[in-house]
Amino acid sequence: MEYGVRLSMDNKKIVITGASRGIGLEMARTLISKGHTVFGAVRNPDGASDLQDAGPAGILQLDISDQDSIDNFSKELSGVTDSLDILVNNAGITSNDLGADRRQCNPWQIDPKIVLAETGINALGPMMVTRGLVELLEAGNNPIVMNTSSQLGSMVIGAMMPFDVAYNVSKAAVNMITVMSASTNKNIAFVALHPGWVKTDMGTEAAELEVPDAANAIVESLLGLTIEDSGRFIRWDGTDHPW
Ligand SMILES: NC(=O)c1ccc[n+]([C@@H]2O[C@H](COP(=O)([O-])OP(=O)(O)OC[C@H]3O[C@@H](n4cnc5c(N)ncnc54)[C@H](OP(=O)(O)O)[C@@H]3O)[C@@H](O)[C@H]2O)c1
Repeated sequence: MEYGVRLSMDNKKIVITGASRGIGLEMARTLISKGHTVFGAVRNPDGASDLQDAGPAGILQLDISDQDSIDNFSKELSGVTDSLDILVNNAGITSNDLGADRRQCNPWQIDPKIVLAETGINALGPMMVTRGLVELLEAGNNPIVMNTSSQLGSMVIGAMMPFDVAYNVSKAAVNMITVMSASTNKNIAFVALHPGWVKTDMGTEAAELEVPDAANAIVESLLGLTIEDSGRFIRWDGTDHPW
């Protein structure tokens, strides 16, 4: 446990899942540089050297597809903090990560096991991580859960980009989980995020946004959220995304 940064007056305690690389890692760097206390949740702590270099308050093991790992994570986190202000459910996958052939990820050819497995990770993963941390969040200050969705989870946009039904379904599902969480828990603000098309391993080099630009914009939007925003679907810049 190491605190290598000056703590700001409005220091927030933040968990980011999938903080080993991509958008999650860059958000961790940005939030740490602003003086916040960041706990990075990663599948393989021994391999998280980039996150380690950023100086988080802690690096904890978490595989969001594994309930035992979620239980151990929430127990471990409860041992080091008695409250949490922000949970960023960022970890996610595409059908490629499950070995599917992208050309066969349409509704007519995809293996239904891929749809179930991907929804388990991209939608039920965030739901169960949030469930494991809800008591810490309820003890937090202006607590926020940001569920990383995608424009592909939007009925409008998903219909225009019908390449990977498992991914689109999983992100539509996390959108529904977000609005249902918002309507059933009035103590915590729940938002769904489209982070933009970002140049990560998932987004590829062809994407529109550089990782630091996306992460900076998401962090600015995140830190401006209040309970009034609960139930919204936002873009990286905080504007409303259509459902
Ligand atoms: N990049 C884009 O253009 C884009 C667009 C829309 C939405 N998104 C969403 O934004 C989020 C971040 O995407 P990214 O582009 O940063 O992706 P990425 O570069 O592929 O990184 C994915 C992250 O998720 C972690 N992860 C995957 N499965 C996990 C599991 N079962 N348990 C815990 N962690 C797991 C990975 O950990 P390991 O290092 O251990 O694999 C990694 O840290 C995702 O939810 C994605 O769907 C991205």
